[in-house]
Amino acid sequence: QHNEFKSMIEAHALAANFYSHLLLNTVEGEEALEYLEKRGFTRESIEKYGIGWSLNDNEALSGLLKRKSFDMRDMERAGLCIMKDDGTGYFDRFRARIMFPLHDDNGNVVAFSGRILTGSKQEAKYLNSPETPIFEKSHILYNFHNARLNVRKTGKVILFEGFMDTISADRAGVTNSVAVMGTSLSDTHLLKLKRIAKDLIICCDGDDAGWEAAKRFADMATQKGLDVKIALLPGKMDPDDYITEHGGDAFREKVIGNPHSFMSFIMAYAKRSKNLSYENDVLQYIHEVLEELAKRSSPVERDLYFRQLSTVTGVSIEAINQQFIKMA
Ligand code: CTP
Ligand code: MN
Ligand code: MN
Ligand code: MN
Ligand code: MN
Repeated sequence: QHNEFKSMIEAHALAANFYSHLLLNTVEGEEALEYLEKRGFTRESIEKYGIGWSLNDNEALSGLLKRKSFDMRDMERAGLCIMKDDGTGYFDRFRARIMFPLHDDNGNVVAFSGRILTGSKQEAKYLNSPETPIFEKSHILYNFHNARLNVRKTGKVILFEGFMDTISADRAGVTNSVAVMGTSLSDTHLLKLKRIAKDLIICCDGDDAGWEAAKRFADMATQKGLDVKIALLPGKMDPDDYITEHGGDAFREKVIGNPHSFMSFIMAYAKRSKNLSYENDVLQYIHEVLEELAKRSSPVERDLYFRQLSTVTGVSIEAINQQFIKMA
């Protein structure tokens, strides 16, 4: 009896072993292994996360799957292979990339993300498996199956933008972390997290895209009723950059150990794009912060941020209060 799901999962397990073997034990994998070591990956984390290497060869995996008698149409639907234009056969989706397996909640490999080695501008940095019967992107969070126990134990989960950040955080002793792949976070993701944690710490990259993502994630998670805090990084660093430069202790204590409340994040977020020596920017800044405050009911929080706004802008607390009443 033909079971499509089962054979897709078996094929991914086989592929993950194949890629891992190529990275760890072959001459072809040496350059990738050196690259990972230069970036601070330990042998332990390479093995724990099942990282591998796909050969620069069109039929390395396809050939293996065929020899193992997998149905190649299933393999195409599973995202591992692509049919040739002339329909005469299949070639590998992933070639010459560092392979990161993506797992479902039971720890099965169900997809891959492949990173190019060089800084080549012609190709996307990451190539991901498409949506398949076993890989629903809106359900899967990187590292969920590993982190679940620690998340339950601590009641707290850290959310990153990229899996590189999760792997580095793990090395830094932050084991209750997951990552979205890029910038799409779904309500399904959040509900999954909410079932096992009350507190969410969002830690996005320090670039513009990261700040926007942090704002979006924080809004979504607050709406779902999670207790949200936002950890910020200096400059344009991402969590992995920070750990490489400042070490794991600093990351745990200064970044993850010292996150901003939602409103405190909004103060920083609204100020980022402004020059407070311009009158217009001051008005806009006050407006944006008051808009967020209007969504909150705590009088104490209002008082606190009216004061901070006043200090930062030089506008009197009374005027800020008047403005706030007018807006509401
Ligand atoms: N991503 C993607 N395709 C791209 C770029 C990014 O799918 N072309 C996703 C990846 O899942 C990646 C995440 O977005 O993990 C975050 O992207 P980015 O910050 O650019 O990558 P890093 O995780 O920082 O990777 P690296 O440190 O290797 O540059
Ligand atoms: Mn990005
Ligand atoms: Mn980024
Ligand atoms: Mn990044
Ligand atoms: Mn990075």
